[in-house]
Amino acid sequence: MRTTRMAGFDFSSGGQPVCDGVDVAAVAHAVGTPLYLYSAALIVERYRELEAAFGDYPHRIHYALKANSTLGIVRLLREAGSAVDANSGGEIAVALKAGATPEDIVFTGVGKTAAELEDAVRLGVGSINAESAGELDRIDRIAVAQGTRARVAVRLNPDIGADTHPGIATGRRSHKFGVPIHEARAVCRDAAARDGLDLVGVHAHVGSQITNLDTLRRNADLVARFTRTLAADGVRLEHIDLGGGLGIAYDGAAAPTAAEYARVLLEAVAPTGLTLLLEPGRWIVGPAGALLATVVDVKPQGDVRYFVVLDAGMSEFLRPALYQAEHRLEPLTARSTPAVTCDVVGPVCETSDVIAMGQSRPLPRVGDLMLVRDAGAYGSTMASNYNRRPLPAEALVAGGGWRIIRRRQTIEDLVACEG
Ligand SMILES: Cc1ncc(COP(=O)(O)O)c(C=O)c1O
Repeated sequence: MRTTRMAGFDFSSGGQPVCDGVDVAAVAHAVGTPLYLYSAALIVERYRELEAAFGDYPHRIHYALKANSTLGIVRLLREAGSAVDANSGGEIAVALKAGATPEDIVFTGVGKTAAELEDAVRLGVGSINAESAGELDRIDRIAVAQGTRARVAVRLNPDIGADTHPGIATGRRSHKFGVPIHEARAVCRDAAARDGLDLVGVHAHVGSQITNLDTLRRNADLVARFTRTLAADGVRLEHIDLGGGLGIAYDGAAAPTAAEYARVLLEAVAPTGLTLLLEPGRWIVGPAGALLATVVDVKPQGDVRYFVVLDAGMSEFLRPALYQAEHRLEPLTARSTPAVTCDVVGPVCETSDVIAMGQSRPLPRVGDLMLVRDAGAYGSTMASNYNRRPLPAEALVAGGGWRIIRRRQTIEDLVACEG
């Protein structure tokens, strides 16, 4: 079953794309570029679609803030009913500011500091997803010192490879994440016996941008089997947390639907009767955001190939440089000249600063607007101030209009912490 997308960006006119009826170029002209632009309607629509796909089975969607933690986006998802997956004290703070309650939060992350753990225990977050026996021990001591019990889940490392970019595969034994599956039974039994811990779940996230459902099925099967082993040991859990990872179709080809994903996970998890938690990020916000940039230079490299230099590069959008990610580009100014080969790059002083290489398209001109599609996830959250470039503005299309949800940083913002 394919979803008929009602909301979001529409490029079908061939000329001026619109986002939920709003002229995208008009927003870019009003705000300036670089600019992230999001569709509130599509974010909510995708959250609801995923939520509904799990039907009546007890479940909760914990939106992964690492994908996009701009307050306006997190608030939107909170209001739609989403819970939160936070990966740092900073993300917990943003979640609370957006209206999440501590119980709504699962706290993941491979390097939680003592201060972060103390705060999380004091707050009483829904679950701390512990990454090691050592971390469980530290949480136990903190909880005992605070005279309380911390709700924890043990993150399993299932030693499952994922068919995705190696930089975002997390489920192999050689990856830094979780407790090796062959040690996990003893670690869970120990956790269940601690005075300061309530072992409420197990967690396993094997990577991001996964479009092969079989990988997610194997992970779900393994975790479900593991909970049965624990039950036989007398350790009863409340939930299974299968992380995030569902991929999207950056090239416009088919990708698994929410319904197909839910069917695969529920086949494994439903027999356990345990509540299913999920931590999706990319799937919800990725297609709902775009990056707008302006062409600042065009120069030939030989006779038939050109560099098209944008005012946005790896400092605004790191995915192409870091993961060789390929995103579709849309020119917002139509040109009818014959197609040439364009390497679309950023302004940063690095050869790795690319946006899209080897594009066959009419040559843009300086001042033209370009749009990078599907940039809503791991775009603004991975932006940096490299080359002293201010973070871009972000705007949200909602209710037939649009508003700024993050103003462009200024150079004064950048130096404000320095003296
Ligand atoms: C533990 C954990 N949960 C959830 C996510 C979100 O993944 P995605 O955005 O692919 O759904 C990630 C990202 O890699 C993660 O590491």
